[in-house]
Amino acid sequence: MAEPVNGFSKLTKNQKIEWLAKNHFINKEEGVKTLEQYWNKDAKLQALHDEFIENTISNFYLPLGIAPNFLINQKYHTIPMAIEESSVVAAAGKAAKYWQQRGGFKTKILGTEKIGQVHFMYHGDASKLKSFFTEVEPKLYKATETITENMRKRGGGISTIELKNKTSQLDNYYQLHCTFETLDAMGANFINSCLEAIAKTFSAEAHQNSLFSPEEKNIEIVMSILSNYVPNCVVKAEVSCKIEELNEDKNLNPQEFADKFVRAVAIANAEPHRAVTHNKGIMNGVDAVVLATGNDFRAIEAGAHAYASKSGSYKSLTHAEIKDGIFKFWIEIPLALGTVGGLTSLHPLVKLSLEILDKPSARALMQIIAVAGLAQNFAAVRSLITDGIQKGHMKMHLMNILNQLGATAEEKAYFVDFYKNKTITHSNVIKEFNDLKAKNV
Ligand code: MEV
Repeated sequence: MAEPVNGFSKLTKNQKIEWLAKNHFINKEEGVKTLEQYWNKDAKLQALHDEFIENTISNFYLPLGIAPNFLINQKYHTIPMAIEESSVVAAAGKAAKYWQQRGGFKTKILGTEKIGQVHFMYHGDASKLKSFFTEVEPKLYKATETITENMRKRGGGISTIELKNKTSQLDNYYQLHCTFETLDAMGANFINSCLEAIAKTFSAEAHQNSLFSPEEKNIEIVMSILSNYVPNCVVKAEVSCKIEELNEDKNLNPQEFADKFVRAVAIANAEPHRAVTHNKGIMNGVDAVVLATGNDFRAIEAGAHAYASKSGSYKSLTHAEIKDGIFKFWIEIPLALGTVGGLTSLHPLVKLSLEILDKPSARALMQIIAVAGLAQNFAAVRSLITDGIQKGHMKMHLMNILNQLGATAEEKAYFVDFYKNKTITHSNVIKEFNDLKAKNV
């Protein structure tokens, strides 16, 4: 059982590891050795990673893979993906190749509006608050001038500030609902700084407003924070082709494939249990690129799932249709991303990932990531309605099983060949592996 500890963050890294080893490791030496194995040999680089968060004890690796051949708006892209799930990069590569031969992906930005809100409580006459807001609004913009100066020079800044009466949802609850254009920055710090300045001025002005009663003057600012729900920061990506071009599957003819695919997407639209898994598959592609490019995958996840529920029930983020002999498959997804600021210039692999993507603007990255999500979903649904998902999954998972068994390079090569045309199951690999070992002894 761990002992409680005071002032832990003030200890040195070695002291923290000592405490950890003493309190939590079964084999102290082994545990410490594992942590140290993952330290970077370059002390400066390690110090950089240490300082990303508090109480760093080591680095946690994820594989960084690449998926080439993504033809997006007639331009080829190689997409970096940071992910642990064995089949994701392989699926991306396959979908890229499939659509490369059928005209590629087409994308469009539908909006780039970010949102932030000052949440406050006001006890009084709503119409008086409305006139006060109209009077004070210019001062709210003025209060943020120094913060927004650089952003405004580049064409961004605060777009609108709106007073919203939310008292039908919660007694005395109002908002200043603000919209922003943050260009190539994700903009979280920018937005939050603006909101805090707006809130401060709003509250101070209310105190001095002679038309307010003492109670009305006492506006309570509850919090000022950006929203990760960005239904107007949305990108669309699509693929389409003639039905007869969907001709790669041995078990279904093109028309059957198209019909079954559209049905599978319709099921995800109709049924939340399926929709969640369907969208999870999309996020396999999205998150991997979001992570590789140093963006906040929790924000993207939260926003995407909220968007999937915007009708009141949870639905698919992708859509499919057949019209006039054309199969069309598309995604609409909110993506609030940055390609400057944050980790983008700090983390060497993030920098390199952005270089692999030809240093995209945030708008360009939105389009690439939407494509990664659509491609991943295409690959998953294609497998599901034809061979089933396990064939491809287990093929990619074979290496994990062999690594767990401690297979040598020759044994791995043997089993990759052995399972070329056979069904892989966990128990079956263990049995074959043990049989092989027994034969060799
Ligand atoms: C697995 O990570 C993702 C899938 O379950 C997605 C789907 O079912 O569409 C294969």
